Amino acid sequence: MAREFKTVGVVGLGTMGAGIVEVFARNGVDVVAVEVDGAALDKGRANLTASTDRAVARGKLDPADRDALHARVTFAVGLDALRDVDLAVEAVPERLDLKRRLLAELDRVCPPGAVLATNTSSLSVTEIAVATERPGQVIGLHFFNPAPVMRLVEVISTVVTAPEVARDVQSLCARLGKVGVSVTDRAGFIANALLFGYLNQAIGMYEAGYASREDIDAAMQQGHGLPMGPLTLLDLIGLDTAYQVLETMYQRGGHDRRHAAAPLLRQMVTAGLLGRKSGRGFYTYQAPGSSRLAPDELTPVAGAEAGAPAPRTVGVVGSGTVATDVAEVLTAAGVDVVAVADPGGVPAAGPGDRVVRDRVVRDLAAVDLVVVAGPSTAPVIDVAMATGRPADVVGLHFVGGLAAQARLVEVVRSVRTSPTAVRAAHQLCAALGRTAVTCGDRAGFIADALLLPYLNDAVRMLESNYSTADDIDAAMKLGCGYPAGPFELLDTVGLDVALAVQTAIHRELPEPGLAPAPLLRNLVTAGRLGRRTGGGFRDHVG
Ligand SMILES: NC(=O)c1ccc[n+]([C@@H]2O[C@H](COP(=O)([O-])OP(=O)(O)OC[C@H]3O[C@@H](n4cnc5c(N)ncnc54)[C@H](O)[C@@H]3O)[C@@H](O)[C@H]2O)c1
Repeated sequence: MAREFKTVGVVGLGTMGAGIVEVFARNGVDVVAVEVDGAALDKGRANLTASTDRAVARGKLDPADRDALHARVTFAVGLDALRDVDLAVEAVPERLDLKRRLLAELDRVCPPGAVLATNTSSLSVTEIAVATERPGQVIGLHFFNPAPVMRLVEVISTVVTAPEVARDVQSLCARLGKVGVSVTDRAGFIANALLFGYLNQAIGMYEAGYASREDIDAAMQQGHGLPMGPLTLLDLIGLDTAYQVLETMYQRGGHDRRHAAAPLLRQMVTAGLLGRKSGRGFYTYQAPGSSRLAPDELTPVAGAEAGAPAPRTVGVVGSGTVATDVAEVLTAAGVDVVAVADPGGVPAAGPGDRVVRDRVVRDLAAVDLVVVAGPSTAPVIDVAMATGRPADVVGLHFVGGLAAQARLVEVVRSVRTSPTAVRAAHQLCAALGRTAVTCGDRAGFIADALLLPYLNDAVRMLESNYSTADDIDAAMKLGCGYPAGPFELLDTVGLDVALAVQTAIHRELPEPGLAPAPLLRNLVTAGRLGRRTGGGFRDHVG
């Protein structure tokens, strides 16, 4: 029979700790909640109260249950209060020296049979465990933010964790209504190993001025259905915590440059811009701890794209289903379409080229705007130059499948696109009832450039046998709130499509970490392309 943990200590009541206290107390476990001083304790208590009051206001918690929950929590300054706990979970800042010191201290204070757990996101649980005299009773218990909402807990066993400890902790997770996924001690475990490269890349895009913060977030939220965009998520995580996680991932994960924290992140942390908890990060909030945005100097002015008339006649350059699909959407919205076959594939020199090019230029002479409709692997500038009027050419990338269903359109400006053409494209998208974001002309634009490397990383993780497709899918859905796991998504999108985009991304930026995963390539070669061929990472019958 699994051991019952009756009293649990939680150390550190910040972004994660306060939520972890709530999870335990809500499920009938007595909690001793510990902070470093009185002020931090008051803040932790206020965090818990605010969260449970919100749950009551939303009808998710009875006022009587809230009161019972609070009655189960004892607040204290200092570790001495943990003398009788069965389990202690630490959620102090992500620093190895601090966690090792704290665990050594917990080892002295807590009863000999107590289990000690760390909520670390990226540090070595093994290194933390060996700071105690009971490494067999030390385990990683990695909750996700916000802890009361996210159902995943990664349960990390080291090479010395006793199997019965892991089993008891798994039973505890079930009692808390969580799904415990068992993993071994590797940097970032499942979810953060897949998440942080993506978050860092999003900061890089923003830092480079490739797209605005709102557009980066909208691309992922509306284009791929994620619960929030990467910069909003970073503000929620806390930029100091995110920075520490990236540093550790970089050091422990083989110096993959994608985990080298973007310089902007470090600057923001130094400047005290820590995200929601400090009231300002990538966005500005109404107060520290508030999730409500306050407008700031970067907030887009409503109607800024107004003034440019919506184009009436649009040239659609491209061939195949994507171009037909886009032309249909435009026609359905009452726009006149001049369809022109893609001249981009024609060799750059030779008399034949001149003929094709002259015809394209003639066909497009009378249109207000030229749209390049193609897969997200072709640079817009290649086609733009072939039209003879590159300033009027924009890429329109309908994100997430067919144009008819896509809610989000990426308006891609090449190095020659004029501001007027960008404005006209926005007007066009508004007329089509689509959200539009603007970005530069790089492989994958915003949404696919951020999504595909993550999918590729998931394939690498599977390939290395660190975890299973089911657990990786579960981790991303239950830990990060993604609508589908990476392998579900790859089977839906098509492995060949994913491989093509990832190959284009890697060609443009030949980072070793961006090279398409061999397993992805092999499955494509074997004809396992996903749902449409009856099988990809999983078999799909019927
Ligand atoms: N923020 C997230 O989204 C997230 C998600 C999962 C896991 N984590 C992990 O959880 C841990 C905590 O991160 P956070 O974001 O909640 O940090 P935080 O900075 O919001 O909170 C840390 C808290 O620990 C307290 N503290 C510091 N030293 C202490 C000590 N010696 N004794 C008692 N309390 C002490 C601080 O006063 C602070 O309230 C980290 O290991 C982090 O990697 C964070």
